[in-house]
Amino acid sequence: MVALDSASTDALPPGFLRDVRAFLDDAFAGAFTDDDWAHARGGMHVWLVGSRGLISHGSLVERTLICSNHTMRVGYVEAVATAEADRRKGYGTIIIKRLGELIRARYQLGVLSTGAHSFYESLGWERWSGPTFVNGPRGHERTPEDDDGIMILRTPRSLSLTLWEISCATGAWVPSGRPGTAPQRLGTCILWGSQP
Ligand SMILES: CC(C)(COP(=O)(O)OP(=O)(O)OC[C@H]1O[C@@H](n2cnc3c(N)ncnc32)[C@H](O)[C@@H]1OP(=O)(O)O)[C@@H](O)C(=O)NCCC(=O)NCCS
Repeated sequence: MVALDSASTDALPPGFLRDVRAFLDDAFAGAFTDDDWAHARGGMHVWLVGSRGLISHGSLVERTLICSNHTMRVGYVEAVATAEADRRKGYGTIIIKRLGELIRARYQLGVLSTGAHSFYESLGWERWSGPTFVNGPRGHERTPEDDDGIMILRTPRSLSLTLWEISCATGAWVPSGRPGTAPQRLGTCILWGSQP
């Protein structure tokens, strides 16, 4: 029996969050960092659980995109993984479909960064073809290393947006909250710039 469940980070007991972190460490084969874990919290978690424990997981966190002269709330997908033994059985698809429903209900746009494009493309996500920037302490800083990975999910509320007219930047830098420490980079900043 496999069950789909979801909850916000602050509603989850610390023990369960430790299980999720351990699951992600295994699923990403040790490549899941403390920063990745920080980025995956503070929003909603969606997961599948079976008799042997967690099977698949994804997070949805709110980010801000500044588009030309207006600001958008977007749903940013993080920490998507299926246990190695359970891959290619459709579980990741269930997680992404549920995250897509949450994005459509709550946000103007979905955004994520990945190397597994075809996994998301079959579920309606589109590859970002423009340059990417982070909104850093010195203004918009180009992040060419992120260009190929970004994907977006349009929602009915995105329809007013056109890919060529908008320059967007996520509010990717926030004060760390500790005096004397550098701002923490939270995500990728996107500039939707080039005309087709
Ligand atoms: C990517 C990942 C989450 C997919 O989970 P999954 O449960 O195996 O996904 P599904 O079974 O729903 O796959 C559905 C389809 O997506 C495609 N797909 C699956 N894994 C893929 C991958 N790694 N790369 C590209 N396409 C993939 C396949 O077409 C698959 O259909 P098929 O099995 O009929 O060929 C899983 O491979 C994983 O955890 N990888 C390690 C962590 C990771 O890379 N996470 C993504 C970071 S954004």
